[in-house]
Amino acid sequence: MRFLSLKPIFRYAIIIFIIVAFTGIVFSQFMNNYIVLVLVLLTEYIILMMMLHFVFDNYVKPIRKATDTLDELVKGNFRARMHHPVTGSMASLLMKINKLARSLSELSINEKMQAEQLTTVIENIQSGLILIDEKGYIHLVNKNFLSLFGKKEKDYIGYLYYDVLDNEKIHKAIQQTFLYEEKVKDSVIVESDHEQYFEIMGAPIFDEKNILKGAVLVLYDITELKKLESMRKDFVANVSHELKTPITSIRGFSETLLDEDLNDKDTARQFLSIINEESKRLQTLIEDLLSLSKLEKEDSRLELANLHFSELMDEVIPVLKQQAESSGITLKVESVDGLEFKADRSGVKQVMINVLANAINYTPNGGEVTLIAEEQKEYIHLMVKDTGIGIPKESLPRIFERFYRVDKARSRNTGGTGLGLAIVKHIVELHNGKVEVESEVNKGTAFHIYFPKN
Ligand SMILES: Nc1ncnc2c1ncn2[C@@H]1O[C@H](COP(=O)(O)OP(=O)(O)OP(=O)(O)O)[C@@H](O)[C@H]1O
Ligand SMILES: [Mg+2]
Repeated sequence: MRFLSLKPIFRYAIIIFIIVAFTGIVFSQFMNNYIVLVLVLLTEYIILMMMLHFVFDNYVKPIRKATDTLDELVKGNFRARMHHPVTGSMASLLMKINKLARSLSELSINEKMQAEQLTTVIENIQSGLILIDEKGYIHLVNKNFLSLFGKKEKDYIGYLYYDVLDNEKIHKAIQQTFLYEEKVKDSVIVESDHEQYFEIMGAPIFDEKNILKGAVLVLYDITELKKLESMRKDFVANVSHELKTPITSIRGFSETLLDEDLNDKDTARQFLSIINEESKRLQTLIEDLLSLSKLEKEDSRLELANLHFSELMDEVIPVLKQQAESSGITLKVESVDGLEFKADRSGVKQVMINVLANAINYTPNGGEVTLIAEEQKEYIHLMVKDTGIGIPKESLPRIFERFYRVDKARSRNTGGTGLGLAIVKHIVELHNGKVEVESEVNKGTAFHIYFPKN
């Protein structure tokens, strides 16, 4: 046993020693000269040892090293290489093993890179993705899918889809993908903390023999699209409604005028003035709609020019001052001298008119409206402050929406269409500026408008 555990070279050396000893015993039977015998045996021993060394170094050792290298490769260590100084067929074996190791290493790097790329793509696409095998077990869910349904990966992987997914429409899409073996499209609503709309796409997966191996399901978020669609519908409904009121009134009064005896000049005059008012209203509404649509155009351009704020206010304030005075409101302007900034002249004028007109319209008799203009770092800060009726907290986030009015009846009385602030916001944002509002009911409102200086 101990013999077997010795290093091979020692084992072979012992065997050679035994062979030499055996030849010594045989030769001693017929050789009397012991010196010659010893010399012969010594020569035999040296020759055999040299042969052993040659065989060991050129064949046994490289084969053992080759086996070790191959063992490493089998284990997956593709960096294993063979180093041994050999010649002949052994050298070619060594070269081929090293070449094989290099190819395996390249293959594994490529495979790893491809796997990483695929994972990156799957994890970073904006849609939810789920992979199901032909038996209905889930094999993969991406990050987006998890954030959508709020569970962990381990809650899905290895489970049957109908055990872990509650949405009926998703079940239906998966079943149809398996049933018809073709792409399926549907839309679903997912309710997490808020309602989200998704377009769901199911696609079957086939193997090379065209046998169904599973299905992949992709959920695209179309909430924004749905919102836009409903905004568009609301907008059309609102426009129609806003147009209907003055048109009904114009038609009603003109029909009465046509039917009635026109000798009653006072009534006729009264009706005509109503028609005139309503047509003015129509005109403002259409003008506002047109300027909104112009502002919304993708290529809507600003004509930027150096503006002197005081010059601009000289054009705006007189008209508004008159309007304020007729409503018993004091209009004050506090502005730093020489305030200059780069902006679109007519745009800024419209912003100021809309905000100041609101302040005057929504401030009762005896109130005060103040415009303060100042420089603030990279912005020009324009503040319009009033002591008016104020805006309830719940309405504050909505006042920039088109057609939104806190009190429809009151706004209509002042000729309002509910588009003024939507236009303001558009113009300011086109300038890369911002509008903020603070308000307290029955105390007053302050609009802060920031235009970048350049
Ligand atoms: N300074 C203010 N004080 C109180 N409420 C205001 C003030 N400014 C705006 N609001 C509220 O915000 C709503 C939207 O304002 P916006 O200017 O967009 O429309 P509008 O004044 O009704 O009509 P218009 O399109 O003719 O300006 C108003 O109807 C009003 O309820
Ligand atoms: Mg207004």
